[in-house]
Amino acid sequence: MASKLKHILKSQQFSREWLEEEFFPLSSEMKKAVLAGQTLDDLKDKTVCLLFYEPSTRTRVSFQQAALKLGALAVATENAKEFSSAVKGETMKDTTRIINAYHFDAIVIRSDYEGAAEEAASVSEAPIINAGDGAGQHPTQSLLDIFTIHEHFGKVDGLRVAFVGDLKYGRTVRSLSYLLGKFKDIKVHLVAPESLQMREDILEYYKENGIEFEAHSDIAEIVDKVDVIYMTRAQKERMNEGEDADGAGVVLNRELLDKVSEKSIIMHPLPRSSDINEIPEELTDDPRMMIFKEAENGLFTRMALLKMVIQ
Ligand code: NCD
Repeated sequence: MASKLKHILKSQQFSREWLEEEFFPLSSEMKKAVLAGQTLDDLKDKTVCLLFYEPSTRTRVSFQQAALKLGALAVATENAKEFSSAVKGETMKDTTRIINAYHFDAIVIRSDYEGAAEEAASVSEAPIINAGDGAGQHPTQSLLDIFTIHEHFGKVDGLRVAFVGDLKYGRTVRSLSYLLGKFKDIKVHLVAPESLQMREDILEYYKENGIEFEAHSDIAEIVDKVDVIYMTRAQKERMNEGEDADGAGVVLNRELLDKVSEKSIIMHPLPRSSDINEIPEELTDDPRMMIFKEAENGLFTRMALLKMVIQ
């Protein structure tokens, strides 16, 4: 049986050993069971509370479905910013104390500020799962991303990964960076307008963990040089006045995709934006496009994670 996890707060907390020996195998097991149509009741009589203070489709629905697929019940507020007592000025700590008082077995939180999940965890008996905290981290997205990468290539060591788009405010690229740091011989290409380049804390982490990195402003420079092109959306909702959302929209078009190796893959945490169109609709069915496979893996990996924190 997989070892028990207390909280899931940030990607740095995971070791390579845990990823390879526990997380990948359990996620694959969940995938097999779901695809075979098996009914699982590992979390029968357990309850999960989802508190979402920011918009979400994938993360919220896949966590709900992950709970249901394991026989647990999920209760969700899909707009906690408006419908919870946050409106009345209640703190994250107090809200967490309340959810604990109702004896849930796990609490999944998406909030609009960095550090919210850690704040909640500091007063919670029930495991807290960070489902995105502002421009901070999104550890469960990075776990489904690394699972998808590992599943496709059969390894992570030695891969060349391009992070493209809004790297300053995108939390998924931050969390995935932390996971890549657990592996060997990784090279990262950072493609973004200068004002939206990866923040210093992640660059420091690259240096400390032996990740070679290079910044670029033009995606054309890297399309034929990497194994993974990880596209992102401009995080307009997090930008300060004067920051250029349109400038963050680095686009992968047909001409560029034609230069990408047949062996490489394109990823995106989604949603892709229909105004900037960073991955145009007409490229969706290209065999290198992993974007919906990634989302589907979100179900299996979140089932594994719920099992690991609750059982
Ligand atoms: C991401 C997020 O919320 O950070 N979405 C997701 O969970 N798949 C990416 C984004 O919103 O751009």
